[in-house]
Amino acid sequence: MSDTKIDIAVVSDHPGIARWHAMAPPGRVAGVAGLRPIVPFRHDVLPPPAGPGVAELSLYVAPQWRRRGIGSRLLDAVRRRAAEGRAAERRVVVDVVAGSPGEAFSLRHGFRYARSRRHDLLTYHDVHQAWLSELVDAERPGYRLTHWTGAVLDSPGVRDLLRSPSRLGGAVLIAADAEGDLAAYAAAVAGAPWQPRARQYGPVVLPGHHGRHLDRWVSAALIQRLREVHPHVQEIETTTADDDADLLAVRAGLGFHLLRRTRLYELTQP
Ligand SMILES: CC(C)(COP(=O)(O)OP(=O)(O)OC[C@H]1O[C@@H](n2cnc3c(N)ncnc32)[C@H](O)[C@@H]1OP(=O)(O)O)[C@@H](O)C(=O)NCCC(=O)NCCS
Repeated sequence: MSDTKIDIAVVSDHPGIARWHAMAPPGRVAGVAGLRPIVPFRHDVLPPPAGPGVAELSLYVAPQWRRRGIGSRLLDAVRRRAAEGRAAERRVVVDVVAGSPGEAFSLRHGFRYARSRRHDLLTYHDVHQAWLSELVDAERPGYRLTHWTGAVLDSPGVRDLLRSPSRLGGAVLIAADAEGDLAAYAAAVAGAPWQPRARQYGPVVLPGHHGRHLDRWVSAALIQRLREVHPHVQEIETTTADDDADLLAVRAGLGFHLLRRTRLYELTQP
């Protein structure tokens, strides 16, 4: 059933993020939708080549307003924008819990199942600092660590970020290179000072550099560096494809533990 008293309004309070509110009289927000381009560490979400840009959809309707078509109207607004030709938003993904209303809604609207994912959490309280330093300081002949910090709003590649000067911002990027040749990297994005949870992307090991435990090395260095740059960060959340046993073993070895499992659904605009 469609609720005609609801207005869908565009909100522009976050640069680079599209947001909509479903407004119910007298000015109450009944639902929200957001579309955030996934840049530049998108390997985590869908394997490269990513083709058109990928944007992550978030959608929430307050429980008392559900099953009245509000989620569908918010999604219509999102789809109209995605269809307007913004390359970065042509492919929309959404993460939902198995068997949830979100999954039923996604299927109803033609999203395709892409993969199952695990979300893990590392709490700094559980990290042994001396052990972490040992991992980071271990010799890796032929490789060295570099890092970059700044704000990631646009979509430059990792190599471009590493070439640019560090500046203020929530993102921290750690890379391993072999004589200037990028070999592996991991990144994290910290939130505002009142948000204790940062989000990690990667590690990614580039072809030709596997089998040297660079994934563990850059991850350990990232955990260390992130806390130095953003001391307010208390914990780090990661997302991993459920069938990526190697990466899950790296995460477990560093002290991450399971937070929740979700399913990723995808919708590609024609
Ligand atoms: C998922 C969510 C946004 C749906 O919002 P909504 O306003 O209730 O959605 P709509 O009324 O437009 O539903 C459209 C269709 O989706 C399907 N659907 C939605 N909720 C469902 C549920 N609980 N069970 C089964 N099907 C459901 C139905 O096919 C429905 O059509 P119908 O009501 O004619 O049967 C809302 O339940 C929500 O906020 N959930 C928590 C957050 C979440 O899971 N977000 C992920 C979004 S993809």
